[in-house]
Order: sequence, then C-alpha cells, then structure tokens
Amino acid sequence: MLKIGILVSGGGTNLQAIIDKIENGYLKDCSIVTVVSSRPGVFALERAKNHNIPACCIPRKEFESLNDYDEALVEHFKKYQAELIVMAGFLSMAGEKFNTAYKHRIINIHPSLIPSFCGKGFYGIIPHQKVIEYGVKVTGATVHFVELEYDSGPIILQKAVCVKDDDTPETLQKRVMEEAEWTILPEAIKLFSEGRLKVEGRKVKIIEN
Ligand code: GRF
Repeated sequence: MLKIGILVSGGGTNLQAIIDKIENGYLKDCSIVTVVSSRPGVFALERAKNHNIPACCIPRKEFESLNDYDEALVEHFKKYQAELIVMAGFLSMAGEKFNTAYKHRIINIHPSLIPSFCGKGFYGIIPHQKVIEYGVKVTGATVHFVELEYDSGPIILQKAVCVKDDDTPETLQKRVMEEAEWTILPEAIKLFSEGRLKVEGRKVKIIEN
C-alpha cells in the first residue's frame, strides 16, 4: 500500500480527483494518509474530512523561513510515514530540506505545458491569462517531480488542451482542469505506485507493463 501525503492551498479539485480514483478502484494499493494545507479554512480541508482523511493546516505564514517550514512538513509527513508527496494546488514551495528528505518522491501539477508559462509567479489564474495574452493555440498541464527551482524538475506526464478564440482565463482554467489535470495527476500517481517511473537525469522513463 503506497502511503500518500497531499499538500493543498485552495479548493482541492485535484485532491478530489485523487480521492475519487482511489474510491473507484483506478488507484489500487494507494491510500491518502494525510492532507496538509498551507492556508487555513480552504475547501480542500473539507473535502478530506468528508472522506475521513486526516487533514490539518500547517500555515506557511507562521514560519519565519522556508527552512523552518520544510522542517515542520518533513516532521509531519514522517509521522504519517508518507512515501509519496503530491502537491495538488500547493502555493508554497519545497526548500532544500524537504527536497532532500523526499528526493524524487514529491510531485506537482502545473496548469501549463512546462517550460512555457511556468516559474515564479505563475500560479492560479495567471498562467491562463498569459496564455491568452500571448495567443498560443495549445496549452495544457504538466505533472513533474519537484526540484528546488519552481516548476523545474523532470517531467512525468503532459496533456495538451486547445485554446479557443472565445476563451477567457476562467473558461480555459476550467477546461485545463477537466481535460488534463484531473486525468494526468492520478495517472502519474498510478505509475509511481506501480514502480514504473525511472528518473534518468532530466528525463522520466515510463516502464512498460
Ligand atoms: C490547479 O490549477 C493546479 O494545477 C495548480 O493550482 C490549481 C489548484 O486547483 N497548481 P485545486 O485546488 O486542485 O482545485
């Protein structure tokens, strides 16, 4: 049984997608052992509680440095014996301590095709606004292993989504979630849980069944 710890900061629709795919049997031998939010009062915490998953807030604001925050997160995840950490709309970052403790065992979902429209400041609705401003015809989502720089680690899965002429940042955000994020995040977790992801430098090889 793969023990998964999930980090959230907001509404938690990606968390919900993972919960649903555990409940419907797509994710076998996976269990969410803890959900941690960096912000208090977010709906993601309610979603966890509704499914009897232990959930709590470790507020980023209460820690002076990223190093101190890392320590608190690592201590928490060790307590729950988490083996894979999933950032599902997590707005803080993993510093050196966290990265070292869970090297290539932290994955993140980003709502664009990395390396476009990513990096510091590209969170929430912003990547979708920039996609529309730039006029690209295709965007999407990326699941990747986390490394120290924002959105920089080896890419596990990507899925493309077409941009329509009449898209607003909000309609595009919704479609990227529906058509890409909620599919590829659980899929990446499934591959990880089956031991089918092999990191070789910047590349992630997917081992065939
Ligand atoms: C998603 O777009 C995700 O890609 C990004 O933050 C958003 C989180 O949404 N990292 P939700 O909290 O999962 O609904």
